[in-house]
Amino acid sequence: MDMTTPEGGPAGGAPGSEGRVLVDPPAGTEPLLRLRGISKHFGAVQALFDVDLDLPAGQVTALCGDNGAGKSVLTKTIAGIHQPDKGEMYWEGRLVHIHSPKDSASLGIETVYQDLALADNLDIVQNMFLGRERLNRLFLNEDSMERAAAETLASLHVTTVRSIRQPVATLSGGQRQAVAVAKAVMWNSKLVMLDEPTAALGVAQTRMVLDLVKRLKDHGLAVMVISHNLNDVFEVADRVAVLHLGRMVAQDRISAFDRESVVDFMTSGRSSRQVATSGSSQGRN
Ligand SMILES: Nc1ncnc2c1ncn2[C@@H]1O[C@H](COP(=O)(O)OP(=O)(O)OP(=O)(O)O)[C@@H](O)[C@H]1O
Ligand SMILES: [Mg+2]
Repeated sequence: MDMTTPEGGPAGGAPGSEGRVLVDPPAGTEPLLRLRGISKHFGAVQALFDVDLDLPAGQVTALCGDNGAGKSVLTKTIAGIHQPDKGEMYWEGRLVHIHSPKDSASLGIETVYQDLALADNLDIVQNMFLGRERLNRLFLNEDSMERAAAETLASLHVTTVRSIRQPVATLSGGQRQAVAVAKAVMWNSKLVMLDEPTAALGVAQTRMVLDLVKRLKDHGLAVMVISHNLNDVFEVADRVAVLHLGRMVAQDRISAFDRESVVDFMTSGRSSRQVATSGSSQGRN
């Protein structure tokens, strides 16, 4: 992974972004992750056009958009699975190039996918330490790993799991999601991205995941949640960013939106109902 400190920052935005209005945040409010002018195509399909996104620490940003809007591609680009065709990413103000999932993990970025994140045949402790097992001389230090896993789950108030030695296959969808999130917290992640975390969950499980998301934010992490569910969005998000056909069409504090305006932006890329605007991270219509 390459890192450079931009001299004076990306004044006026990314190269080739003439005409785009980019408002750099005031000093001291640099978001944890700042994307500028990210584009990505697959063959003839342009999945992302010149996307700007700010993910501040201690805040939940909801990434909204209709099917095929580019939410997962954007997430995978941040996670290092896809390489952008152009654009810049700034991590704590430094220009970074994330070439692989390993690069993003080493920055402190953890991505949680609904069913793919965990190994079914392993128990909770084994999952949380997968690939990063603690050794005591040549042997696994089971006590130490068990203690750390239990402490992390307790700190997140995950209380419905009966035994941390339970195979993950026997957990409910919400519990699996909780373990995946706890794993992210245990490894001192700074940014957690959740792609549709509640899509397959029931009412009680959804509640547990939303409470966890709030706790991550209280721990000072930046959280990005992809959701189609506006109830979830309005419950947990501090900020909303809306993609429409690969373009970021709105991005602002949650108080700048109401439900109808989010739906308008998701379905048509514009809205006459935006409630308020703020000085930075303004959507471009
Ligand atoms: N690996 C790929 N190869 C080719 N096209 C792709 C690939 N991944 C995504 N796309 C295309 O990029 C566009 C955006 O897809 P993406 O998966 O990001 O949508 P999304 O916003 O996550 O939608 P959903 O809400 O349905 O999950 C779509 O047109 C999709 O077909
Ligand atoms: Mg998707």
